[in-house]
Amino acid sequence: MRKKLIAGNWKSNLAKSNAIQLAEAILEQGILVDFELAIFPPEIFIDSILEVVKSTVKVGAQNCSQYTEGAFTGETTALQLASAGVQMALAGHSERRHLFAETNEVVKLKIDKVLSAGLTPVFCCGEALETRKANEQNNWVEQQLEESLFHLTQADFSKVIIAYEPIWAIGTGVVATPKEAEEMHEFIRKKIAAKYDAATAESTRILYGGSVKADNAKALFSCPNIDGALVGGASLKANEFLAIANAAK
Ligand code: 13P
Repeated sequence: MRKKLIAGNWKSNLAKSNAIQLAEAILEQGILVDFELAIFPPEIFIDSILEVVKSTVKVGAQNCSQYTEGAFTGETTALQLASAGVQMALAGHSERRHLFAETNEVVKLKIDKVLSAGLTPVFCCGEALETRKANEQNNWVEQQLEESLFHLTQADFSKVIIAYEPIWAIGTGVVATPKEAEEMHEFIRKKIAAKYDAATAESTRILYGGSVKADNAKALFSCPNIDGALVGGASLKANEFLAIANAAK
C-alpha cells in the first residue's frame, strides 16, 4: 500500500520570517497519520526550517547541482544538501527545464547525484499544452522517463518518487481532470512495470502537480494511481496546504 505524500514546493517565494511562520503553522496543525508531508523551501532557509520541523515533515531542496563538488560557483551539491539534513530533492521541475535550460541529460545527472548522496529524488515530468493538443503527451513523458530515469538499477529506481506535472496546469489554475491525470499515472506505472517489474511499479509513488487546491484534491486522490500531490501556490498557506493533505485521508 503506497502512503500518500503531500509536498509543498515554495519556489522562490517568501522572506525568511514568513517561511519560518509557514513551517511553524504546518507543524502546529499537521496530523501525520495517514499521509506524509514534505516541504521544499527556498534553499537558503533550509537550515532554519529544519530546526522548526525536525523530522516531522520531510524537507527537500528544489534543485541540486549535477556536479559532485568543486569550482561550480553558485551551485549546491547533493552531498552538501545531505550534510545539511535535507532528505529529498526535486529534479527536472519544468521551471528549471524551461528557464534554466535543463535537458533530460542534465536531469539524469542530477538524479544520479541525489541518489548517490542518499537523498530521495522527486523526478518531475510533464508535457506542454501543444504536446497535449497533438495527443503526444504519452510519448513525451515516456522519453523523459527513458532519458533521465530508466538507466537506474531496480534498487536505485525503487528510491525515486515521480511527480507528473503537466506544464499547462502549473500556476494557471487549470487543473488536469482526474481522468487526464489518472490516465497518465497509469501509463507511467505501466512503463515502470515493463522496464522493471510489477512489484516495483506497484510500490512507486506517483504524485500529481499543477493547480492542486483544497477543492480539487479529493477527486484527484481518489484515483487509484495518484499517490499524492506536489503543490505550488496553494502550499504557501498552511490552512490550504493542510486541507489538501487532509483530502488524502
Ligand atoms: P501550482 O500548484 O502553483 O500550479 O504549481 C505546481 C508546481 O509547479 C509544483 O512543483
